[in-house]
Amino acid sequence: MIEADAFQQPRPLTVWFTGLSGSGKSTLAQALVAHAQFSKFSFYVLDGDVLRTGLCSGLGFSAADRRENIRRVAEAAKLLNGAGVNVVCALISPAGADREMAAGIIGGNNFMEVYVATPLTVCESRDPKGLYKRARAGEIPLFTGINSPYEPPTAAALVLENSTQSVEDSINQIARCIDTWRSKQFE
Ligand code: ADX
Repeated sequence: MIEADAFQQPRPLTVWFTGLSGSGKSTLAQALVAHAQFSKFSFYVLDGDVLRTGLCSGLGFSAADRRENIRRVAEAAKLLNGAGVNVVCALISPAGADREMAAGIIGGNNFMEVYVATPLTVCESRDPKGLYKRARAGEIPLFTGINSPYEPPTAAALVLENSTQSVEDSINQIARCIDTWRSKQFE
């Protein structure tokens, strides 16, 4: 059972999911939206895969392009938060420095980093888009986790062991984290 009360918060925030491709970021983002709406608290999703077809089209996967990708998404999240809309971002965002930049743009008081800590072996075995297979075959350069680095967060607000627990359990953990995080902020 989802604990709905945890979502009833007046101040907008950005929940920032980071993790490997196939770690479950998009699934969790959609689940968060669904359950938050159930408790009259809505999120807008900014998903890397989707944004790369529009706002961030033309960007590749070099370190510089990823940084620009993350900068644009953070700016969009900031605008939405400013308009009173809660945001959930789902981007690999592999570089710690880029996530710090995002936090700086959005504002530390509005930014909650959540690490979707699905191991590479699990992401690779899922391989929902067949990209790991192609990356291993040398067809995709700079693929995160294969031939491009992923820096795990060292101080995430929450680490989700997504491969060993249900989506519902993860959402409940996020809900509790939002509650705790907010209460600490305004102590
Ligand atoms: S990020 O690194 O800049 O944060 P983002 O989350 O926007 O990445 O996009 C990641 C998605 O792009 C992956 O889920 C995958 O579907 C696709 N993709 C295509 N090429 C790559 C690549 N070289 N590395 C990682 N993801 C890639």
